[in-house]
Parts: sequence; structure tokens; C-alpha cells
Amino acid sequence: MSRGLPLSKMGCGTWAWGNRLLWGYDESMDGQLQAVFNCCVSQGVTLFDTGDSYGTGRLAGRSELLLGQFSRDYEGMGKDQICIATKLAAYPWRLTRSAMRSACRASADRLGRPVDLVQMHWSTANYAPWQERPLLEGLADLYEQGLVKGVGLSNYGPRQLRSVHQRFVQRGVPIATLQVQYSLLSTYPITTLGLKETCDELGIRLIAYSPLGLGLLTGKYADSKMLPGGLRGFLFRQLLPGMRPLLDGLQAIATSRTKTMAQVALNWCMAKGTIPIPGAKTLSQAQENIGALGWQLDPGEVAELDQLAARVDRKMVQNIFQTQ
Ligand SMILES: NC(=O)c1ccc[n+]([C@@H]2O[C@H](COP(=O)([O-])OP(=O)(O)OC[C@H]3O[C@@H](n4cnc5c(N)ncnc54)[C@H](OP(=O)(O)O)[C@@H]3O)[C@@H](O)[C@H]2O)c1
Repeated sequence: MSRGLPLSKMGCGTWAWGNRLLWGYDESMDGQLQAVFNCCVSQGVTLFDTGDSYGTGRLAGRSELLLGQFSRDYEGMGKDQICIATKLAAYPWRLTRSAMRSACRASADRLGRPVDLVQMHWSTANYAPWQERPLLEGLADLYEQGLVKGVGLSNYGPRQLRSVHQRFVQRGVPIATLQVQYSLLSTYPITTLGLKETCDELGIRLIAYSPLGLGLLTGKYADSKMLPGGLRGFLFRQLLPGMRPLLDGLQAIATSRTKTMAQVALNWCMAKGTIPIPGAKTLSQAQENIGALGWQLDPGEVAELDQLAARVDRKMVQNIFQTQ
């Protein structure tokens, strides 16, 4: 077992924190982001996902820096449960086991505290398979050397997950988590790849990233006049026409439950046995997302959402690094 790794039922994603290009971040948001952090921890949402590649341009590393600062400043309920999960990128210039150690040390320096869960951000199997072995050995070293409480993977499919698992078992290193893109707009990891069964069999917790479909499943972008700028707006324009029935179904269930669409979308992820890590940029988004906890969709509602999701003709694009 991983060493006392506290994993809450739901987490909070921090890709947007420091990302100007895709998410429109600027430093004036930091007060809100600290309020998001404090609200999450005090309400039992203590898992925070970040990455050493997060932050654009001169803001590189900003997400880890902010998380470090917020966790040090926080004084209140749940402080001992805070779990900071970072992802180390498989950059082309990271080639050795020791490069992973240096990368984890750099993340810990930015955080000003140890990393709790260290994850391989993506597999190089699709384009540079020779690079992968030393990086994974380096990931396992971090656990063996007591530098982290747990290790995880991201964007791995079942075949590759099994192979890494087998190698790590030989070294006595458990894989605590796997994170993949999973939402009502991205059911592929479970329905096609069968990753939930594989994870259950191997004792690995499955984390659902982009569980709100980058914001689409909140319903606020249903009106095409309200689309965000840039790449997200472009993507949403392609996806929206084919997902109207899904949005209508989400809205109907949300209304009958006196919940919001975001809350229903996140609750569905939890009903599927995953830990969703929705990103939040404002306190009100975080508060709304936390409202996905403490109640459960019934099996009929889950089945109805499954059917609506299956009928969406154009799904969210899969991460290019996702392997089989
Ligand atoms: N492993 C990987 O390769 C990988 C890839 C992607 C993401 N991730 C992780 O997963 C986390 C979550 O995914 P994500 O941030 O990509 O997408 P997401 O959680 O599906 O969507 C987050 C965005 O939706 C909007 N939003 C959130 N809550 C809302 C609410 N209650 N009401 C209205 N709008 C709301 C916000 O953006 P706006 O206000 O701008 O709409 C927010 O930034 C990331 O932060 C990151 O930690 C991992």
C-alpha cells in the first residue's frame, strides 16, 4: 500500500492556475484562487492536482508555487489531509532516472513542501518508447527513497498500465492512482478501454480529469454567443451541436434534484467509482462543485446519463498521449 496517502472523494484541478493562454489566468486572480483552496480543504476536498509543466511563459511553475503558498498559509480543518499531487512531464530532455529525482526536487522546491503523490504525466510509448523505462524507474525510485507518499500514472491505457504494474510489483512499489480524461463527454477510458475494471483488479484508484468537459458540462456555454475565446471556443463550437440532448438531460435531472448541471456531471463521475478533479477559478465555482458531494444519483438517473452520453456523436478529443 502507498504510505498513508489521503485521497478525498473529489479533488480540485489547478491547470488553469498560471495558464494565460488557454484559461486566461492573471495574477489578480490569486486572491480568488486562495479562497478556492481554503474552501476546498475546509469542506474535505483535500486532493489538489497540479503539474510541473503547468503555467505559461514566465508563469511556468505558477500552479505549484500557488499551491505551496496556499497550503502553508492554510490554518484550519483538514490541513493534515492536504494531498498535493503533481505530474512530472516526460519532456524529451528528461532521459534518465536521476532526471526524475531532479524534477521532483524542483517541484518540492516550488511547493516549499514535499510532493505527496507523484505522477508520470504521460507515456512516451506512442512516439519514443525507448525513453520510458528510465523515467518510470526514476518514478519508482522516488517512492523507494521515501521522497513521496505514493506514485501514479496519467494517460495510460490498460495494456501499458499492466506492464508498468508488473515491473513496479517486482520493486515493491504500489501504483496508487491513474488519471485519465473521463466525463460524460469522454467515456472512452472506461467504456472502450475498460480501465475501471483494470484499476479495480490492480488496486489502483481512477482519477477523472476534465470531468466538466473543460466547462461545457456546466451548461453555461450552451448558448454559442457565450463561448470563451481561443482554443476552447473553437473546440466548443464543434462539440455543442451534437451534445444538445445530453445538456437537456443533465438540466432535467439537475432541476428534479435541485442541483446544478455541474453537480450532476461530477456526481455521475463518482457514481462510476472515479475521483473527479474539476478545475475551479473562482470561489463560487468551487462551492458549486463541492455541492456534488453528500448525495447520490440513483441507478436510473445514471443509466439515463449513460445513454445520453453514448448518443453524443462528437466527443471530447482524447489526449494525444493516451495509450492503449
Ligand atoms: N493528466 C492530464 O493530462 C490532464 C489533462 C487535463 C487536465 N488535467 C487535470 O484535471 C483538472 C480538471 O480538468 P480541467 O481543468 O481541464 O477541466 P474541467 O474540470 O472539466 O473544467 C474546469 C473549468 O470549467 C469551468 N468551471 C469549473 N467549475 C465550474 C462551475 N461550477 N460553474 C461554471 N464553470 C465552472 C472553469 O473554467 P471557465 O470559468 O473558464 O469556464 C474551470 O476552469 C485540471 O485542472 C488538471 O489538474 C490533467
